[in-house]
Amino acid sequence: MTITCSVIRGVGGYLPSKVMTNAELESMVDTSDEWIVQRTGIRQRHVAAKGETTSDLATAAAQKALAHAGMTAKDVDLIIVATTTPDYTFPSVASLVQEKLGMHHGCAFDQQAVCSGFVFALATADSYLKSGMARTALVVGADTMTRILDWKDRNTCVLFGDGAGAVVLQAQQCAPDEPRPGILSSRLRSDGRHWKKLYVDGGVSSTGTIGHIRMQGREVFKHAVAMITDVINDALADAGKSAADLDWFIPHQANRRIIDGAGRKVGIAPEKVVVTVDRHANTSAASVPLALDEAVRDGRIKAGDLVMLEAMGGGFTWGASLIRWSAD
Ligand code: UT7
Repeated sequence: MTITCSVIRGVGGYLPSKVMTNAELESMVDTSDEWIVQRTGIRQRHVAAKGETTSDLATAAAQKALAHAGMTAKDVDLIIVATTTPDYTFPSVASLVQEKLGMHHGCAFDQQAVCSGFVFALATADSYLKSGMARTALVVGADTMTRILDWKDRNTCVLFGDGAGAVVLQAQQCAPDEPRPGILSSRLRSDGRHWKKLYVDGGVSSTGTIGHIRMQGREVFKHAVAMITDVINDALADAGKSAADLDWFIPHQANRRIIDGAGRKVGIAPEKVVVTVDRHANTSAASVPLALDEAVRDGRIKAGDLVMLEAMGGGFTWGASLIRWSAD
């Protein structure tokens, strides 16, 4: 007897070419490179060019993930794009990615859990694969958060950047008595009581405008480490693992201090933590797959490694996913 596993076959990332440094922000709001680096760890962020949309970023990342997997869009029967910043109110970014990939079969839809979006989408795709509803999924996290920034609000405009990351997830039959590859466990949480601590002050059915990000940073910070560590510990327990078993920790890249705090609290050695926040800032749903892509491509993550993904964002939403890496 075999069981169905969801295995990552390939990963890809895309960052817009324009880089904005902290020094540039100094000329826009009352801030300093020193404050931003000390409080967040961020030194620069990528910003999408005029006319470059979330679906463009998502498609570029998806193409790289497919190439890494040695596959084409023909092999895919499910696309889930995690995003908060769609090209249009509808159709979904996933439908646009499907069209840009020249794929006219299967199904495609968006999932919105803000910065936790990729972890939520990965768990959703995992369920589709394990239930037999799909066989090969493209799971993308893509956001152009700079489009919803108030560039006069120093509390938020220094924190975000644009980007996209993607994985190809495929169902595979595994022997139950061997170390299982792929997604071993996922934990997703949300609590709508906190929505006003991090939200966008506009929308289709409220103001009829796009709106801007508003955040009570200190309040978000206060909850972040505890929420993150809870889902990490639950995901580890579900798989019968402990923090000591982890080879790599890929946290959401919002703030270096939150990353360090969560790593310390869970008990993960600093050298096992993948950090991109210094160069990418907070790319929302793209942050985890972009960090995963970097650590796979530079050779840190190898086949057989145990990898913990984690994210937390608006809603609040938060989640973790434990993976045994299998792609080379
Ligand atoms: O994906 C999840 C989304 N977001 C997060 O995870 C972010 C969570 N929060 C954070 O990362 C941090 O709370 C921030 C980086 C946003 C702020 O750091 P903090 O250490 O919590 O600072 P604070 O909010 O307590 O503000 C300290 C001071 C304030 O001045 P006063 O009131 O003490 O005079 C702020 O007005 O820093 C001021 N400040 C700034 N100063 C220079 C806030 N933003 C800036 C800025 N430059 N950009």
